[in-house]
Amino acid sequence: MTRLTNKVAVITGGNSGIGFATASLFIAEGARVLIVGRRRDAVDEAVNRLGRQATGLTGDIADLTTHERVAAFIEERFGRADIYVANAGGIRIQQSADVAPGDYDAQFSANARGTFFGVQKITPLLREGGAILLTSSIATHKVLDGHAVYAGSKAAIEAFARNWALEFKDRRIRVNVLSPGPTNTPILEKLGLSPDARPEVEEQAARMIPFGRIGDAEDLARAALFLCSDESAFITGVNLAVDGGITLI
Ligand SMILES: NC(=O)c1ccc[n+]([C@@H]2O[C@H](COP(=O)([O-])OP(=O)(O)OC[C@H]3O[C@@H](n4cnc5c(N)ncnc54)[C@H](OP(=O)(O)O)[C@@H]3O)[C@@H](O)[C@H]2O)c1
Repeated sequence: MTRLTNKVAVITGGNSGIGFATASLFIAEGARVLIVGRRRDAVDEAVNRLGRQATGLTGDIADLTTHERVAAFIEERFGRADIYVANAGGIRIQQSADVAPGDYDAQFSANARGTFFGVQKITPLLREGGAILLTSSIATHKVLDGHAVYAGSKAAIEAFARNWALEFKDRRIRVNVLSPGPTNTPILEKLGLSPDARPEVEEQAARMIPFGRIGDAEDLARAALFLCSDESAFITGVNLAVDGGITLI
């Protein structure tokens, strides 16, 4: 497949879940991909699995020097990039009464601030006609228990996207948002869910979803491909929910 032939894509959080599936699909479509993740071993393993069209960098997106290193790497290795997928993000489920300032700052620093400055640093290196894809969540529209801070941090991303869609239009850089519903990725274990408890949680979530199942990382990757390829050449500033219809109810 050739929808991304000769394109260079940067995918934050590309070592796991939705980001990994997206990296894999983009490479299958002809792209060269730089993945950025926190854990060196996970990034190395992902690059091995993705093959020679992939390279990896480690860094925390909440640390702004990470974005400077990513930009410097892109400039040196590729000169320019075509696609930036700001996918990395984190969640802590808590009732608002239990949220300490540090919990709040951690989610806003990674999800909102990390996305903002990642885009700020990479945009000068994006080719005309490039695409930026930000990752939000259906939690910004559907109230989910214990999600207030996470939802707020993701809502900021949606506002950034609408502003950037117009700010970057003269360089024909499109900016869109992908909002996953409940999706089968390692994020659940990172929330402390044991592998034994996982099937029951997935079943509960599936019962809430009109399509009767939770999403797969590949469902999101296919939507990301659409929004980052020329198939969506006339689309900017949209927020695409990929959620089996859960936001409708
Ligand atoms: N899965 C869902 O149900 C769901 C629903 C709505 C929205 N989302 C969003 O979708 C995106 C991808 O999540 P996922 O489900 O694929 O989860 P995942 O498998 O846990 O992947 C998240 C990726 O982001 C990276 N990451 C997290 N915080 C980071 C930081 N501060 N700096 C650098 N990298 C960081 C992780 O690195 P490590 O592996 O090193 O932690 C990992 O590579 C996230 O933005 C998430 O909020 C997911």
